[in-house]
Amino acid sequence: MAGEPLILKVRAALATVADPATGRNIIASGRVQGLSASPSGVVRFTLEAAGGKEKEAMDLLEKARTAAAGVEGVTRVAAVATAHQAGPAKSPPPRGHSNPLGLRQDRRAGLEDSLLGVRNVIAVASGKGGVGKSTVAANLAVALARSGLKAGLLDADIYGPSLPTLFGLKDKPEIRDGRILPARAFGLKAMSIGLIVDPDKALAWRGPMVMSAVRQLISDVDWGELDVLVVDTPPGTGDAQLTLGQSKKLTGAIIVSTPQELALADVKRGVGLFRRLDVPILGVVENMAWLETEDGARQYLFGKGGAERAAREFDAPFLGALPIFPELREASDAGAPLAATAPDSPAGEAFASLAAKVRDLLIP
Ligand SMILES: Nc1ncnc2c1ncn2[C@@H]1O[C@H](COP(=O)(O)OP(=O)(O)OP(=O)(O)O)[C@@H](O)[C@H]1O
Ligand SMILES: [Mg+2]
Repeated sequence: MAGEPLILKVRAALATVADPATGRNIIASGRVQGLSASPSGVVRFTLEAAGGKEKEAMDLLEKARTAAAGVEGVTRVAAVATAHQAGPAKSPPPRGHSNPLGLRQDRRAGLEDSLLGVRNVIAVASGKGGVGKSTVAANLAVALARSGLKAGLLDADIYGPSLPTLFGLKDKPEIRDGRILPARAFGLKAMSIGLIVDPDKALAWRGPMVMSAVRQLISDVDWGELDVLVVDTPPGTGDAQLTLGQSKKLTGAIIVSTPQELALADVKRGVGLFRRLDVPILGVVENMAWLETEDGARQYLFGKGGAERAAREFDAPFLGALPIFPELREASDAGAPLAATAPDSPAGEAFASLAAKVRDLLIP
């Protein structure tokens, strides 16, 4: 029917796919979760797989994808299969050290409640360190804000916070009624553990304390109304990512990698973790992909296209490559994110175009 919302047409198409486990269709048997369709025709959903049979789950996912892709108006399908039976515990029992930020405990909201006004939370992650997560997260958040969204940036890297440097922030945040007021910088609300706790102190923290600190950064910060909260995570696939994964609010994860051959293993680790946590992969970004020389030629210093190949291999969308911008490092070290301070520079434009792609993947 003309004029029918795209999401309904997609739903109807998915309802033609039979679910071998129940003999019904995948919509009727509740296998399709989190279905959304953006105005530009990007369809996202997760397909809940029935226990353990990976091959069957992948076949079914392929059928569902094909059905959705066949609907007129659909430009892209981002779908993942999830398996529940062997997933990590959803809520580890609270242990000691549950309040590392030392806030009043009387009316602490749960993760979901406190993010009621936040439409999308996206995690920026990578399998290994130093690939540019913090740089990408900060400039992406700025570019999303510049595109007109209400955006926030949370630096959840407990051991090595970057936000104070990237944004040149140092003032301790104000605390009102037991809630932390985020800093405001470059059109964003921003918060980092580095603004609250002396990083040397945090170095001694172990898993449970890291998890509670990340939880508090989400739940005890007064984020208010946001279209999107970008979360910069520590390298690897540890406690901070697990905590984020437990928040039902996580729209998805962006995996940053570099073009080396080794990117395959990195991307695999990142994608694997979030898929185990039922978190959709919004896409892979290849950072430091090449250096442009003065005559406009591209020098591939770290190999060519590794992250893009890895994305394809693990069936994750590829969000594009960012070259090495020598001026980006200097600006970042000086507390001036180029997406805000030089939006017309090559780096500024590259982040704006990444933001436009990410915007399409958000829940409106
Ligand atoms: N596209 C780029 N062009 C030039 N320099 C970049 C680019 N991306 C990141 N850098 C620089 O690379 C260094 C590492 O970047 P960044 O701190 O963002 O990585 P990270 O993945 O967050 O690291 P960590 O794992 O330690 O948190 C920084 O000095 C940053 O300025
Ligand atoms: Mg970082």
